[in-house]
Amino acid sequence: MATFAIADVAPEDRSESNRARTFYIETFGCQMNVHDSEKVIGTLEHQGYTRVETEEAADLILYNTCSIRDKAEQKVFNRLNDYKSLHKQGKRFAVLGCVAQQEGERIFERAPFVSIVSGSASYNRLPEMLAQLQQGTKRITGLDDRQTEETFETEFTARSNPHRGYITIIEGCDKFCAYCVVPYTRGKERSRSSTSVLAEARRMADSGYTEIQLLGQNVNSYHDLEGKKSFAELLAAVGEIPGIRRVRFTTSHPRDFTRDIVQAIDAVPSLCDHVHLPVQSGSSHVLKLMQREYTREQYMERVAWIKGARRTISMTTDIIVGFPGETATDFEQTIDLLAEVEYDGVFGFKYSPRPNTPALTMPDSIPDKEKSLRLQVLLDRQRETQRRNYARHIGDVLEVMVEGYNTSRRQIVGRTSQNKTVNFTTEQPILPAQGSYLSVRITQSFPNSLVGEAV
Ligand code: 5AD
Ligand code: SF4
Repeated sequence: MATFAIADVAPEDRSESNRARTFYIETFGCQMNVHDSEKVIGTLEHQGYTRVETEEAADLILYNTCSIRDKAEQKVFNRLNDYKSLHKQGKRFAVLGCVAQQEGERIFERAPFVSIVSGSASYNRLPEMLAQLQQGTKRITGLDDRQTEETFETEFTARSNPHRGYITIIEGCDKFCAYCVVPYTRGKERSRSSTSVLAEARRMADSGYTEIQLLGQNVNSYHDLEGKKSFAELLAAVGEIPGIRRVRFTTSHPRDFTRDIVQAIDAVPSLCDHVHLPVQSGSSHVLKLMQREYTREQYMERVAWIKGARRTISMTTDIIVGFPGETATDFEQTIDLLAEVEYDGVFGFKYSPRPNTPALTMPDSIPDKEKSLRLQVLLDRQRETQRRNYARHIGDVLEVMVEGYNTSRRQIVGRTSQNKTVNFTTEQPILPAQGSYLSVRITQSFPNSLVGEAV
């Protein structure tokens, strides 16, 4: 039997159709998934569901999944395995997101107790799917693949943070990098109109948000439906909304990254001085195999634009090691590129073969042990670069947005415009509120964080 979570419903109202239902959701993967979940939560709440904190307390258990690497994909199957016995108590399971779209109806074969399988390109149909579930339909699918023209926009987004929030500007991806599942799991590229994005940003500013992060698998290929604004213009327009103090964006694709983005950052103070520009490899040979559509030289040209800005713009990147055909010399070129760019952060990954992707047909030629070794070398070198980069901030006074508190060490945790974490103390008797902005003098540094005192 399903549980009845809300006690103040009169007994006669507790029929299957109108009693309150509860849901639990767990999110895996990227910021796009985190934000999709915020929209899913808002949609479910609007449908009369109440969110609970455990699988056991829920009538409906949702997993919003990621399939970027095999390890991420396995997480949802582990969860389903751990909690499948709850199905016997009448609880229903929904698998959403990238594994859902990738595996489709095969999920029902592996986990026959699952009721809903839906990729992100079908979330517009969630209310309908929930209605079918309530009517007792056993298996419901939303698998739009690369057909849909729609974006998932809802006024019911349940943002988890009242100060900084995401806005999707473009969904899907048309890039087809040889290793990547995303074009197959999130559908084709669909941009929102700048009018709709700006209206959402203004609503957020009106309700107290000061930081906005624009999201997309490839924000640089944003194409305004109304033809009004380029990506750089949209970025600037969001940054000019009264009340908005920080604007970030992710993810960029070097091929589509244009110089006017750097000019916008220089011109509009609220645009954060940080660019995440995934390079994946420092070898033009590997970049070609990866079908990245740029060479090392073209990437370094973008880096030169960014480094040539009037403001000091922090850079971070993603690297894949052990892509099929990556030689020791190719890998050396990646290490060499990291030393040249001096990133403030690197997300390094071992290549993981993914279903449907072109690279799947290339022999996964590098043994796992060698991939691990390359990753370790890369992370060790990068740590030293970051140690030096972060140490350069000692003595700086940086503006920090308060994110939380580290009670054990009586520190306040905040973030700079460059997206660096600062742990700091204050002499004020009252701790600054979450979401407030303070000036902090940096006194100490680590490879991943700064330490300081509020001034
Ligand atoms: N194997 C390893 N890493 C991958 N990424 C994407 N696909 C794969 C894969 N098949 C990495 C890329 C991307 C980041 C989000 O994940 O570096 O930028
Ligand atoms: Fe994972 Fe990529 Fe899907 Fe994000 S878009 S959830 S990183 S597979």
